[in-house]
Amino acid sequence: MSRVVVATAYGGPEVLAVTDEPVAAPGPGEARIKVRACGVNPVDYKMYSGSFGSDPSRLPLRLGLESAGEVVAVGPGAAGPAGPVAVGDEVIAYRIAGGYAAELVVPAQSLVPKPANLGWAEASGLMLAGATAWHALTATAVAAGDTVLIHGAAGGVGLMAIQLAAARGATVIGTASPARHDLLREFGAIPVAYGDGLADRVTAAAPNGVTAALDLVGTDEAIDVSLALVPDRQRIATIAAAGRGLELGIRVLGGAPGADPGTEIREAARIQLAALAGQGRLRVLVARTFPLEDVADAHRLSMGGHVAGKIALIP
Ligand SMILES: NC(=O)c1ccc[n+]([C@@H]2O[C@H](COP(=O)([O-])OP(=O)(O)OC[C@H]3O[C@@H](n4cnc5c(N)ncnc54)[C@H](OP(=O)(O)O)[C@@H]3O)[C@@H](O)[C@H]2O)c1
Repeated sequence: MSRVVVATAYGGPEVLAVTDEPVAAPGPGEARIKVRACGVNPVDYKMYSGSFGSDPSRLPLRLGLESAGEVVAVGPGAAGPAGPVAVGDEVIAYRIAGGYAAELVVPAQSLVPKPANLGWAEASGLMLAGATAWHALTATAVAAGDTVLIHGAAGGVGLMAIQLAAARGATVIGTASPARHDLLREFGAIPVAYGDGLADRVTAAAPNGVTAALDLVGTDEAIDVSLALVPDRQRIATIAAAGRGLELGIRVLGGAPGADPGTEIREAARIQLAALAGQGRLRVLVARTFPLEDVADAHRLSMGGHVAGKIALIP
């Protein structure tokens, strides 16, 4: 048996419960992992909040798309993108279903070796945010010589996007509340406060213009300022405002209807993200960890919308 988190109904974090569920032996191409940390992402609470519908037949709903842990059993032919998977391997599992668990069976194809220099909580927060940022920068073709504006730069995806854009040789301007500006500088961005007058502040920070923009927050302000400053709509991407993004003809990324899921780009990014993190060139900032049993508190914090970096659950 394994402790797992389920949403028992659609609603707020009060519907979350920790229960025991049996864990099967791994079948062909599968591995069983003892989870040491589970990455928390805003999509996790959106799954049971009703944002994506409220089909009762899906309840109780397991949560969690990424975890890090140790392989404790393997089925025949268990191999991931980096090669065969063996008992004792320390791994990151992404993208998986039901990652909020003490133990679980996953397809070995979801497993990438954990860089030794990353702690468990850091490892559990690397992939979803990292692959999303990678996709956004690839979709907008950010490269050396660009000046890229990143809205929501202090969040989980934002801190990844700053570092990956800087690694591509771009100049990065990031929006955040003033309390996060030192953090943004530390990660490689020129910080600008969001709110009234944003376009003027960005123009002052980028006198030669802005060539690409990533909306990682979904506000009208982020979209409007991006449209005002970036001449080419194909170089503006949103991961959080699908409806408006599709109307306006900018790049809409992710799982929403009509959006570009970027599945192959995101899957391929995993090895690169692990390599960069392993070389100390990509940092995962863990804002806070919670015991698995306190998942509702973790989600309340995430829902507040002002976390800098990642939240992890420790089973
Ligand atoms: N489409 C996809 O594939 C995909 C993938 C991943 C995430 N997402 C979505 O993208 C969004 C961001 O994800 P995340 O994991 O980065 O979330 P997160 O870590 O919870 O983001 C929190 C950050 O948002 C910033 N923020 C809040 N209000 C802001 C505003 N008005 N302007 C600029 N920044 C603001 C906060 O900065 P301050 O504290 O300074 O206010 C905070 O650092 C979520 O809606 C998530 O569901 C979509």
